[in-house]
Amino acid sequence: MSGDSERQALLRDKMIKKGAKGEKSRYVSKISSVLKPNMTLLDIGCGTGHIIQTLAHHHKNIFFVGLDISPGMLKKAKENTVNIPNISLVRGNGLLLPFSECSFDIVITRLAEYSPKEAYRTVKKGGCFFEYGLGPEADKEIVEFFRDRIEEENFFFPHDISKWKEEVCVNIKNVGFVVSTIEEYKEKDAFQNVDELMDTIEMVPLVKNFDREKDRGVVAELAKKYRDDHGIKTTWHYYILEARRS
Ligand SMILES: C[S@@+](CC[C@H](N)C(=O)[O-])C[C@H]1O[C@@H](n2cnc3c(N)ncnc32)[C@H](O)[C@@H]1O
Repeated sequence: MSGDSERQALLRDKMIKKGAKGEKSRYVSKISSVLKPNMTLLDIGCGTGHIIQTLAHHHKNIFFVGLDISPGMLKKAKENTVNIPNISLVRGNGLLLPFSECSFDIVITRLAEYSPKEAYRTVKKGGCFFEYGLGPEADKEIVEFFRDRIEEENFFFPHDISKWKEEVCVNIKNVGFVVSTIEEYKEKDAFQNVDELMDTIEMVPLVKNFDREKDRGVVAELAKKYRDDHGIKTTWHYYILEARRS
């Protein structure tokens, strides 16, 4: 198991720095609101490290640990956080965390593979857990144009659309967490051109066997349908869940 490739890490870093994909400020401010001096925080599947990088900028007296399974992501995360003394990075599997019970005050995870049971085990009693995950309408324009080739694991297709939040919460509650809130947000991502949108399709990835040359025509059709004065608009639907270990 090696997680995302070095190319995915480069594309993700580029996207995040452009601010083109996936709003994060709400998530960062919700987490910030519970941070107190000398706390420790673990980010499971930290990717390029941008969430803990932003948090560490505002909270110099918190100790942050970023864990990811991908060497390519960790390389980018190291470059991004090189001069930040209160961040450390660890290679590890979110399904089997290399930390003892009750190691962290706060555990967070954004769009990554992780085990709720492991998150519960490693957070302290009374500590908080935050998850930023996909809502069922995320990237629905891509589903519309690539219906037969969708990478299902990178979307959220609930069993019952009218009860999708309950479905998200059930795994979290089953391991012992008490869910305080689950809030959903819907926004638009704006891509400046077809190549930028193709970077995202390739990066996540959203489409099986995506080929930039062969699939360019379909992406161009999508762009024609969903372009306005601000760019090619796709739906970004996500939730932020907050839970507590009692
Ligand atoms: C969609 S990216 C999200 C990265 C980051 N959390 C963010 O919000 O930008 C998913 C990340 O999860 C990592 N990942 C995938 N499987 C993992 C696992 N089993 N354990 C830890 N990290 C994993 C990938 O390498 C990648 O960095």
